[in-house]
Amino acid sequence: MPRQVKRRIAILTGGGDAPGLNAAIRAATRHAIFTLGWEVLGVRNGFNGFLEPDGVFPLTLDMVRGILPLGGTILGAANRGNPFAQEMVVDGRKVVVDVSDRIVQRIHELNLDAVLVTGGDGTLGAAWDLFRKGAPIIGIPKTIDNDVPGTDFTIGFDTAVSVAAEALDRLHTTAESHHRVMVVELMGRDAGFIALHAGIAGGADIILLPEIPFHYEVLAAKVLGRIRRGRMFSIVAVAEGAHPVGGQKVYRQPGDSLVEARLGGISLQVADYIAQATGTETRALILGHLQRGGTPTARDRLLATMFATEAVRLVQQGKLGYMVALRGTRVEPLPLEEMLAQRPKRVHPEDDTVQAARAIGTVFGDEIDRLTGTRPLAQEE
Ligand code: F6P
Repeated sequence: MPRQVKRRIAILTGGGDAPGLNAAIRAATRHAIFTLGWEVLGVRNGFNGFLEPDGVFPLTLDMVRGILPLGGTILGAANRGNPFAQEMVVDGRKVVVDVSDRIVQRIHELNLDAVLVTGGDGTLGAAWDLFRKGAPIIGIPKTIDNDVPGTDFTIGFDTAVSVAAEALDRLHTTAESHHRVMVVELMGRDAGFIALHAGIAGGADIILLPEIPFHYEVLAAKVLGRIRRGRMFSIVAVAEGAHPVGGQKVYRQPGDSLVEARLGGISLQVADYIAQATGTETRALILGHLQRGGTPTARDRLLATMFATEAVRLVQQGKLGYMVALRGTRVEPLPLEEMLAQRPKRVHPEDDTVQAARAIGTVFGDEIDRLTGTRPLAQEE
């Protein structure tokens, strides 16, 4: 039998958190320590931990016991964690500095054979840049938005969709009791996968996505069409980045050079319009971070376990600069460079999911041709 080389790896969770990160930390640690006899270090708060006192510490089997069903990340997350643009206070002034060289140096000082970086496209992009500077990186894609190219699904998406679908179920009952329209705003800045999947699973009558600009008149026509058929309530699932044709996204807070502006409020505008145009009582709800918190679904735990163990396998094979990706039912390595060269992953208006929703009468707000004609929305059978 070939002698096993004992290796030393680290794991970090970058960007916003996502349900299933702890399952990934557990799986990587168990595979590396329990099966291979390696050493595993945890890095706190994304890349920041490499430069923080006590930011890097040994992970043990005991530490990862019982964390499989826990949401969040035991390692901590950091939104402002880009190694190439870190906010620091120097002489009492806030400045943005590039600490990437220091991080690469620290990784070498720690004698790491690999750093497993869980992240969305932003974090994985920074990880690739660190790899080009000599850091031994392997990526694990996570984000509730599911917008990392090259992988069918990311860790966290399934849980976010389940939470959102359950919210739609719950809103159905109260909407029906009160003959109201309920507008639910879901996460998704540029990619509407959560609103699309949850909207279908939760039986939304109208789904509004960043990728399909909508016409307000279509929303009113759909609600009125339902009222005409005796359906006195309607459910609208709207992604936070959705916007009307020729209109802008709705922001709550401006961004800066380090973090993106915060979206929020399109649901209120949609609700106000529908109330006014249809005379129906309408309520709006922003589901927000409920979609990111709490216990991960079985599917997210499974995906995280498959991703993390494959990432450790890539270390064994010396395949650095790759990320793990789900293709159908298989987890495969994909060069990070190839993922980053792809166009951002978005809902395509011709996707099977969109077609299935349209086939059962769900409206996306772009059906402007159905305001009049032989089968107008407001008079549909
Ligand atoms: O990237 C995931 C995401 O959930 C987006 O859909 C959302 O706009 C953003 O994070 C909000 O993040 P935070 O409030 O942590 O800045």
